[in-house]
Amino acid sequence: MTSTKIDPLAATLFNRLDNAPDLMFYQAPRFVAHIDEPTIDALTNFYREILFDGADVLDLMSSWISHLPEEPALGRVAGLGMNEPELAANPRLDDRTVHDLNTDPVLPYTSDTFDFVFIAVSIQYLVRPIEVFNEITRVLRPGGQVDVATSHRCFPTKAIRAFREKSPKDRMLLIAEYIRQTGMFEEPDMLDRSPQDADPLWLICGTLSI
Ligand SMILES: C[S@@+](CC[C@H](N)C(=O)[O-])C[C@H]1O[C@@H](n2cnc3c(N)ncnc32)[C@H](O)[C@@H]1O
Repeated sequence: MTSTKIDPLAATLFNRLDNAPDLMFYQAPRFVAHIDEPTIDALTNFYREILFDGADVLDLMSSWISHLPEEPALGRVAGLGMNEPELAANPRLDDRTVHDLNTDPVLPYTSDTFDFVFIAVSIQYLVRPIEVFNEITRVLRPGGQVDVATSHRCFPTKAIRAFREKSPKDRMLLIAEYIRQTGMFEEPDMLDRSPQDADPLWLICGTLSI
């Protein structure tokens, strides 16, 4: 009997309905929350649990809100996103970079710079995630963490097919696979921190194994 091997990262998973340059879609600022208030609180609480005094953080795919707690006091908070006015309005950022990760997945930061890389409710828009995750391993310090927060809303025309069609569990497994593919992280953790009667919050977390 022959068995069919399923490719967890088949190219068709990354198809999008709108293939126009992302800069067009993100040209106008959107000063909106992409998850409910209790879900934002749950994410902030999660960050509070893992952050430490003086930690340097990269908020990847950032906008006007980073969901970071007031305490502990952080070191540098860098933000990278697609819309300059949104980033300019984000009071938590020390530096701001407009950069399209789908045209250039190379992160514009020196190696061994951050203790944490956070991606909040945005991972569904990456069409070259493995290249981005390889870059995340480069900019993280030894023992650093990547934490991907996901929910169930998206801009459907810009989300990859996997996030339009797969179940929440399978989407989490796909993100865990992005982390695994780098070969640089411990086995990823998957957490469900969904508050009651609000948008869900699913977290996929990887800690560098060196
Ligand atoms: C749903 S918003 C989430 C923003 C923010 N992280 C939050 O939690 O509210 C999606 C974000 O992904 C960013 N983004 C989308 N496509 C991107 C790309 N190709 N390169 C870099 N960032 C991108 C946009 O700038 C936008 O701010």
